[in-house]
Amino acid sequence: MPAPPPHGLIYLDHSATTPIDPEIAARMRDADDRFPGNPSSIHAAGRAARLCLEEARSALAGSLGMPAESVIFTGSGSEANNLAIAGTLLEHAGRPAHLIVSAIEHHSVLHCARALAARHDGVTLTEIACGADGRIDLDAIADAIRPATRLISLMLVNNETGVIQPVAEAAHRARDRGIRLHVDAVQALGRLPLDLPALGADLLTLAAHKARGPRGVGALLVRPGCGLAPLIHGGTQENYRRAGTENLAGAVGMAEAVRRAVAATDAHRRHLARLERIFLDTLTGQAAAGPRFELNGCATAKVPGILNLAFEGVRQDDLVVGMDLAGVAISAGSACSSGVIEPSHVLAAMNLPPWRRDGGVRISFGSTNTEQEARQAAARLAELARRLATSTAHG
Ligand SMILES: Cc1ncc(COP(=O)(O)O)c(C=O)c1O
Repeated sequence: MPAPPPHGLIYLDHSATTPIDPEIAARMRDADDRFPGNPSSIHAAGRAARLCLEEARSALAGSLGMPAESVIFTGSGSEANNLAIAGTLLEHAGRPAHLIVSAIEHHSVLHCARALAARHDGVTLTEIACGADGRIDLDAIADAIRPATRLISLMLVNNETGVIQPVAEAAHRARDRGIRLHVDAVQALGRLPLDLPALGADLLTLAAHKARGPRGVGALLVRPGCGLAPLIHGGTQENYRRAGTENLAGAVGMAEAVRRAVAATDAHRRHLARLERIFLDTLTGQAAAGPRFELNGCATAKVPGILNLAFEGVRQDDLVVGMDLAGVAISAGSACSSGVIEPSHVLAAMNLPPWRRDGGVRISFGSTNTEQEARQAAARLAELARRLATSTAHG
């Protein structure tokens, strides 16, 4: 069995996942203990479990100002993204369907859209480019729209750079043309206000584990009146939109994580901004002795707490491994399922110089991080980058 994280580890990979809040974990255990029944059973234990589930649904929807029936609980943010895209296309089955996504979407959007276009006649896909600042090109979206366009899927905050995407503006261009907008808001939860009507979103994806909730629970919010075909068939759960016995404790944990994240968004943003400032100031203070470094992504249009940095002449895997050995968890772009660092499709789409594209590492702060951790981590990163740049230059 792998060893648990060492005591004293500075965890700066909150965009991959966040540590569960102990109070949320306790609520989940309590829900499991108190409601052992299947929410679909008609006996008292089943009815009590159903009530608990529906309360979680109402609470989650209420945190976002939506009606309870707009929530479909899923097994992950990835599943919610797949459901939004494939569920929309299946709803239009038999008619030509054109999809628009950006080239910097999470793989659960990109790979789903590509697979649908590759496997289904009549489904076509346009991938929208982004600028060197990491922002999606709005004009390219307007140019890509065709009569058969059914869905535009865009993320609100990029998971590798933290750059905020012009989703509401994109919605504006799609409005009145009957095109659905799906917003992947997984990285925006707790970092930006989430208001579906203001965003112009018909569908919105969330994942509990990015905001101190449980792993393996997500939700798709669906605007009332927006039809969606199920991907998982079987029972009538989730209002016929996702079959399978519900993850009751997960739903309870997710509802509470979303409630807390939404309520604390302003305070959380201030905390993250402070940590980011300290981190960057410490790094800049030590930069004279080390290699040049750059922030990948627009500094003025990003959420606080997610930084993508590249150091000239230093490889990203050396930085990730070196920082791990120095007791700091950071990542190379998104969390990958294979455990192998792969080139970032996000940094590639930004058309950056090779050293910034291949060298980018992601540092993502969370609510449990302290100012001292930000300072210490930056000092260790500066020292490591200096050492690596020197050894490369002399190697
Ligand atoms: C922007 C974005 N969308 C979707 C996902 C997928 O969420 P999950 O890990 O719950 O499948 C992630 C996860 O990193 C993400 O960052």
